[in-house]
Amino acid sequence: AVSVEHTFMVSQVKMTHLCKETLATVVNGQLPGPAIDVTEGDSVTVHVVNKSPHNITIHWHGVKQWLNCWADGVPMITQLPIQPNQNFTYRFHVIGQEGTLWWHAHVPFLRASVHGALIIRPRNGASSYPFPKPDREVPIIIADYWQLDLAQAARRMMHGYMYIFSNASTINGKLGDLFNCSGVPEDNYVLDVVPGTTYLLRIINAALFAEFYLKIAGHKFTVVGADASYVSPYTTDVIAIAPGETVDALLVADAPPGRYYMVALPNQAPLPETQTPQYTTRGIMQYSNSHSSADGPAGLGSDRGAEEEEEGSSGDVPVAPEMPDIHDTITSYYFHSNLTNLYHTVVPQRVDERLFILLSLGSICQHGQSCKRGNSNEDLPTATMNNVSFLNPTGKTPLLEAHYYHTGIVDVMQELPDRPPRAFNFTDRALIPFGPKEMRLEPSNKATVVRRFRHGAVVEILFQNTAVLQSDSNPMHLHGHNMILLAQGLGNFDAAKDVAKYNLVNPPVKNTILVPNLGWAAIRFVANNPGVWFMHCHYEFHLIMGMAAVFIVEDGPTVDTSLPPPPANFPTYCGHDNNLLP
Ligand code: C2O
Repeated sequence: AVSVEHTFMVSQVKMTHLCKETLATVVNGQLPGPAIDVTEGDSVTVHVVNKSPHNITIHWHGVKQWLNCWADGVPMITQLPIQPNQNFTYRFHVIGQEGTLWWHAHVPFLRASVHGALIIRPRNGASSYPFPKPDREVPIIIADYWQLDLAQAARRMMHGYMYIFSNASTINGKLGDLFNCSGVPEDNYVLDVVPGTTYLLRIINAALFAEFYLKIAGHKFTVVGADASYVSPYTTDVIAIAPGETVDALLVADAPPGRYYMVALPNQAPLPETQTPQYTTRGIMQYSNSHSSADGPAGLGSDRGAEEEEEGSSGDVPVAPEMPDIHDTITSYYFHSNLTNLYHTVVPQRVDERLFILLSLGSICQHGQSCKRGNSNEDLPTATMNNVSFLNPTGKTPLLEAHYYHTGIVDVMQELPDRPPRAFNFTDRALIPFGPKEMRLEPSNKATVVRRFRHGAVVEILFQNTAVLQSDSNPMHLHGHNMILLAQGLGNFDAAKDVAKYNLVNPPVKNTILVPNLGWAAIRFVANNPGVWFMHCHYEFHLIMGMAAVFIVEDGPTVDTSLPPPPANFPTYCGHDNNLLP
């Protein structure tokens, strides 16, 4: 094991796309930011130098941070934000995980441009992959491009203005030829391939608001990993990936040499009137020596979809795949249902704590009076878990410090209830439960909810989506622990018949669980990593509106199972504004 060191210079750079110059906050001048490439067992040191005007933290998404909650990078939960012109050094080990993770800013909206891959290779080299050794490995980061100032966009959304959207979707930072400036198409991401070779695509969804379908015309993928955990090889022509998730997939260049579109299509549930627009983008998979029309992909007409080229017969035009419908949520449901762990999963059988977490939207009064059911215009929408909308802590002391030093702050916080306040038919689209016709939202309360777990407790959570939620699926992400996905289903969870569906043999192990559109997901995890861990929806829109909670895992009985003191360079309060959106 070695020590891998990076310096991340966070600054604003000018970018010109779609005829407009934008100031984007990025790392080391690049978008996506630098990839961190390590071998399992390595230690990682990242010096973050904040030359941007934003308060910032960096989160190492999916890294377990064993006994190292201090490095988790969640502002006001695990650390004070890094102020403009301040530095902070993150130090962590990558142990017991192999595959693809990623890193991103964890202040509102900034992860749209502050993100990159975190690749963890096996100790014994690529020949020890539990699948045929690929000839090349390529990160594929799906994200979105924003011309709006991200901090300003976040601020507006927090104040109830919902119609905020990006200007384009991207693959590895390229907008693609579906976007143009005065008729001049943007650059496509190009994957140059050699016929007959195998590529390991390390796919990351870094977009703020949308789940994506990824397809390449004329090719299939074999999925071998998800969230840095190996899965049984699963061959498919479409990959579904939600914000926060990663998918490792093998791609064999075995088609007739030519050019093929690689299309990323946002998948959005119906009810378009409440959706912000999302954009399809495309890259090109290009075989070497395939630029002339003579080498064009003959005989693949059946793969040509509705997005077929406009330029007619030129043989140089890539073949387009046929994509799922933009409102197709079932393909994603099946994709996720088909993932199983490559190995036997050790599923703890004894359950110590059960939570039923209802994911929904609510409303809150702006002026402190009690809300009337029926939402006056004064009320702000909220996103909730069991009808509570998370209030981000402010002040001088992050929760982790307060917890570690027993200041008492955490002890008086409201507890996340272990069930919703009332039951109704959660997924009946015809019957919006809080009033017919216009959507009336349940008045919710806003609080910094926490939930304490004894060290080693086995926790089972049933996440239930509602029809109120614009029929979104919800990618639920837990910091510091992996979750075992026991089962998912459509409609309302019914213990009497659904518990029998739990996979106790080889369920997938993930850090982000996509709770299906109008459905539920059941997970278990062992609360054995002491600290203060964020648990939230990875749609930025839901996170910012409060679909989050904090899980506190108590110390174990020994030094080896207890949280050590903070690192020496930990930022302390120095009179600056810790507001996440100053
Ligand atoms: Cu990828 Cu709390 O985040």
